Amino acid sequence: METLHLRTAGTSLVISFNSGEAEIIHWGADLGATLPDLAILGEPVPPSAVDANVPAGLLPQASSSWRGRPALRGHRFADGVPGHDFSTRLRTVSTAAEHNTAIIVQSDADAGIAVESSLTLHDGGLLEMRHTLTNGGTTPYQLDELATVLPVAPDAVELLDLTGRWCRETHPQRRSIQQGTWVRTGRHGRTGHDSSLLLAAGTEGFGNRHGKVWATHLAWSGNHEQFADSIGDGRTMIGGSELLGAAEVILQPGGSYTTPALFAAYSDRGLDGISEAFYSWFRSRPHHVLPAAGAATDPGKPRPVVLNTWEAMYFDHNLDALVELADSAAELGVERFVLDDGWFRGRRNDQAGLGDWYVDESLWPDGLGPLIEAVTSRGMEFGLWVEPEMINLDSDIARAHPDWIVGPSMHSHKDGGRLPVEWRTQHVIDLVNPEAWQYIFDRIDALLRENNISYLKWDQNRDLTEHGHAGRSSVHEQTLAAYRLFDSLRKAHPGVEIESCSSGGARVDLGILERTDRIWASDCNDALERQTIQRWTGMVVPPELVGAHVGPTTSHTTARTHDLSFRAITALFGHFGMEWDVRELQGAERAELKRFIALYKEHRALIHGGRMVRADVPDGSLLLHGVVAAPAIKGATAALFALVSTRTGFAEQPGRVTVPGLEPDRGYRVEAIFPTPADAGYAHNYTQVQPPAWLAGGAEANGRFLAEVGLPMPILNPEHAVLLKFTAL
Ligand code: DGJ
Repeated sequence: METLHLRTAGTSLVISFNSGEAEIIHWGADLGATLPDLAILGEPVPPSAVDANVPAGLLPQASSSWRGRPALRGHRFADGVPGHDFSTRLRTVSTAAEHNTAIIVQSDADAGIAVESSLTLHDGGLLEMRHTLTNGGTTPYQLDELATVLPVAPDAVELLDLTGRWCRETHPQRRSIQQGTWVRTGRHGRTGHDSSLLLAAGTEGFGNRHGKVWATHLAWSGNHEQFADSIGDGRTMIGGSELLGAAEVILQPGGSYTTPALFAAYSDRGLDGISEAFYSWFRSRPHHVLPAAGAATDPGKPRPVVLNTWEAMYFDHNLDALVELADSAAELGVERFVLDDGWFRGRRNDQAGLGDWYVDESLWPDGLGPLIEAVTSRGMEFGLWVEPEMINLDSDIARAHPDWIVGPSMHSHKDGGRLPVEWRTQHVIDLVNPEAWQYIFDRIDALLRENNISYLKWDQNRDLTEHGHAGRSSVHEQTLAAYRLFDSLRKAHPGVEIESCSSGGARVDLGILERTDRIWASDCNDALERQTIQRWTGMVVPPELVGAHVGPTTSHTTARTHDLSFRAITALFGHFGMEWDVRELQGAERAELKRFIALYKEHRALIHGGRMVRADVPDGSLLLHGVVAAPAIKGATAALFALVSTRTGFAEQPGRVTVPGLEPDRGYRVEAIFPTPADAGYAHNYTQVQPPAWLAGGAEANGRFLAEVGLPMPILNPEHAVLLKFTAL
């Protein structure tokens, strides 16, 4: 069989079949059109080892003497006895390649197992891989794991992944690659606050814009593992798999299982190159940020300025107050008003009502109509919060259908079955039960049909623990059923956008993003925390899909107090909005927020379509990140950068900070546009007797000078930021 070579955007993927099974022998830098005879890659055979070369297969397997983590674990029931066909000898039976997609079928006729693998190298360099295993035998086959893995080059010596918790999602951690397996396990039944959005291996000290990096992401919202497996012969594989519960997948003869997609990118220019590959793929999707209703050819509508009621009002819903808030929001320039939790039957706090998806008649005697009318007549879209996968014991639906509440037992809790420990006083509704699924679909569908709702904030606020259907582990089925719910509602209401929220950012992955239009990255609106959360969420997810709100002056989740300019500059580099009772805002502060809203509207096409740049600033107290238009248009804004001080710096002053990512031979005019001396936040922003020479009047230089020499930056106070605008000359 011929070698397959997929190439695009500086990346090559080479698959050899010389050993009889498919083997990725290179994933990394573009190798050009001509490859040598790959027989030259035959390895020496060491003493006291297998008497043959061991291929690192597309599905590494013990029958080839692979002693690292195998891709496939499973066994067959023969005459009802488990444990048969525990080892496969998969051999390639067919290959096909078209438009940078390779389809490879490998099979073991004796074991009755066939696996079809599909690998697509998208135009921007993002690789998408998945496997489908089919039970071709005559008895049931229990699948325990089917992983998708890729080899990384030997010069990858460091590993970076992300972790976190509620209000502190996506924080990086690094270690060197040593022999052994580094596994990040997610047993939350959802993606998880601590989930590693990205697992990246790279050359020593790889950074934002330097070093080689190989990175993977698993597109799955249920239990999962991501790992780097480094074995004794010096090879390292990275990848991931769905983490299946006890006997969750038993394939009957002819049955099949498809893995979640593994997305992967290679970059020779640090982490920014990885983001570029992901962003390019997101932005090439036909449905990327939903087109305006009725305009099917529109590539996507500008991301509207949002006002969300959560940190403004919490559960204190009251029509008059909400109309006042809508009035105030419209006056500021808000374009989408989202009514958060608290509007449905019995929901006066977070302990009751989930599942009763009817507008609460005692609070809203005339339904949501009057509020929606107030919102839409002021030129804003109306959005509504829902949490369809959850149920409170204190709800009419739980009382009527106790058997719809998920637990480990065959029996409902009313019949003596055990329930999982409560989490925010709530449980999970069993979407694997077709009646429960249909009830939820019908309720949300009715709400969308009966009300002028353009947007759903779809929340999910607990882990799926002891999660069973009819007494058997069912996270796998529940995840698929939840996906079906999203898909069916989207199909029925194609003009409605959906935001994925899960106690903030506990469900951020490309599986959920395939069926939603934005994610809520964190419940933390503290701008300092958000600098890190947004930076690392933005590794994979482009800013137009990451909700970022200006919260109250003193953060509700950390009690830190920040100037408006720091909060607004932070939110500007996402899908901008507010979560604040803006009725209280008057005078200069109100005028300043209005200016930020106008600024966001003026520049959102750039922020949501440009190239993300994160500088490697040696002074760890400073961040410099921005978005650069590609290509720059003379006279237009060519880039916006934020210089952010996270804490006091070591040196007296930051010195010259270089600005990478601009066109080297293009001239630029650089200005600090926020805050200016006329803004309320200006005095707070800096501690300096005299600003750098260029700050008052702006500076002109070409991209090469700015990247190599840089500009002396003002001395920012900690937890402050300045917004820099670059105009192309
Ligand atoms: C958790 C979300 O992350 C918040 O933004 C808010 O919607 C609350 N749930 C409402 O209960």
